[in-house]
Formats: sequence, structure tokens, C-alpha cells
Amino acid sequence: ASTLGAAAAQSGRYFGTAIAAGRLGDSAYTTIAGREFNMVTAENEMKPDATEPQRGQFNFSSGDQIYNWATQRGMKVRGHTLAWHAQQPSWMQSLSGSSLRQAMIDHINGVMAHYKGKLAYWDVVNEAFNEDGSRRQSNLQATGNDWIEVAFRTARTADPSVKLCYNDYNIENWSYAKTQGVYNMIRDFKSRGVPIDCVGLQTHFTGGSSLPSNFQTTLSSFAGLGVDVALTEVDVTNASTTQYAGLTQACVNVSRCVGITVWGVRDSDSWRSSESPLLFDGGGNKKAAYNSVLNAL
Ligand code: XIL
Repeated sequence: ASTLGAAAAQSGRYFGTAIAAGRLGDSAYTTIAGREFNMVTAENEMKPDATEPQRGQFNFSSGDQIYNWATQRGMKVRGHTLAWHAQQPSWMQSLSGSSLRQAMIDHINGVMAHYKGKLAYWDVVNEAFNEDGSRRQSNLQATGNDWIEVAFRTARTADPSVKLCYNDYNIENWSYAKTQGVYNMIRDFKSRGVPIDCVGLQTHFTGGSSLPSNFQTTLSSFAGLGVDVALTEVDVTNASTTQYAGLTQACVNVSRCVGITVWGVRDSDSWRSSESPLLFDGGGNKKAAYNSVLNAL
């Protein structure tokens, strides 16, 4: 295969990218994105501050722009994200307790109703753990420890057709406390019947030249709980070919690893642009890491 999407499809997987609505008028950008990828995540446009800027007033204009661009090209879309401590609208940041809990439920219902039946995955909850494996002390966590399962139960009822994911960063190293904290939550959810279908490992790699220890073990261990896994926001400092090849190989080696998404198209599009972490340079040229990924798929 000669593109990332086609190569991933040979084993039933997808290869995705984050898309920014503001760049859809850049033909160099859309040419690469349209050619290489078959899954799209909105980089910011489906986050709570974008979709519910005022309480009860939803705005899907930018999210729909990305959704339409992707689906017109036969690509699927991952929803990102419904409940998160960051990028909350200011009205939500000022709520607490039962009114914040209700606002979270209403937000999930409002956004999921709009995209009902249209998306492949939703990142229902994003980044709810601390590095030491405990729960992050966010305003959502302060509404009660059950906020995550309430979010997932609400989501399942709102759209039974979409796969519901928990998504986080620094959960790639199997020996890391945060990975174990998330693993224990997923195991608990599966044992109690809380609806959850997938775990997203953001895979933002910083520095170093090798993979986090036992990365493939992490993927197979989550999969062993009965959930799909995906690498959802991949970028790697200086696009290390060793790390890009290794993370791709780890996914390919785990049957329930359903796909890989890189967090942007060209280095110049990246939120970490100073680290040149993506597969295309600012001129739109394929980097060495592109070939290492393509060869590993
Ligand atoms: C980032 C976007 O790339 C930036 O444009 C924005 O300013 C901040 O958010 N984890 C996530 C993503 O789940 O939503 C974040 O995206 C990167 C870290």
C-alpha cells in the first residue's frame, strides 16, 4: 500500500489524524490529509468549550465542518471529547457540585444527540488521572468519584451505536502508576457492567529514543479486559524513527489495537511544532518517520 490509511486497512485497522477546521482552506494541508488518512479527530472543535459556549446553547458549526470534510472523503470520525477538566466553557468552570454534575450530563446528551449514529468512537472522558495513579482533583472529580461511570452510562443511553472510550496520556508504560490506575478503573468498570468499549492511549512521546517500557504489554493487558485499544494522539519528539516504528509495530502485534491517529498533519500544524513531532515536514514532504510507520503497518 502507498498510503498510511490503505496500509492500516490491510489488517483491518485505520490510520487517522487530528484536523483543525481553520486549516481546511489550505490545499497543501487538505491534499495530504485527504490522501493519507481514513480516520479524523477534531483537534479542538468537538470539545466542551467549542460545542456548548453558553449553557444549553450548542454550536456544532466547526465540528460539523470537520465531520462533513471527513465523511465526504469516506473517512470515519472519532469524537473528542465530552468530559474533561480542560477546555471547559467558562460557565462550566464556575459550576460545582450537583449543578456541575447535571451540566456534564446535559452536555453529553446534547452533543451526542447531534452526532447520534454518525461517529465511530467517542472519547467520553479525557485525562481523569494523576501521574501517581490517583484521580485528578478536577471540578468534575469534586462532584463525586462516580462521575466517570455516570458519564459512560449517560453516553451509552444517548447513542448506543458509538464505541465509548476512556482517553489519557502517560499510560503507555506498563510499569507506571498512572497506567495501573487507569487499568484498575477499566477492570472495575468491566466487572460491574459499566459500559466502556475502548481505551485511547494518547501516545505523546517526549524525548528519548526507545519506547516506554512494555508498551505492547500495556496494549495487550488493556485488551485482555475486553476493550479495544487505540493510539489516539501520536506525536514524538523529533519524530524518532525508532519510536514511530516501535509504536506502530506494538499496535499491529495486538489484535484489539484498532488504529493509530497522529496529532496533526505537518510539523507546522502541531501543537508541539518546535519539536517537529509529526510525519510530514512544514513543506508537506514525507519524513523518515513516515516510511518507518508505513513499513511497520
Ligand atoms: C490540544 C490541541 O492540539 C491544541 O490545539 C489546544 O490548544 C490544546 O489541546 N491531550 C488532548 C488533546 O486530549 O485534546 C490536546 O489537544 C493535547 C493533549
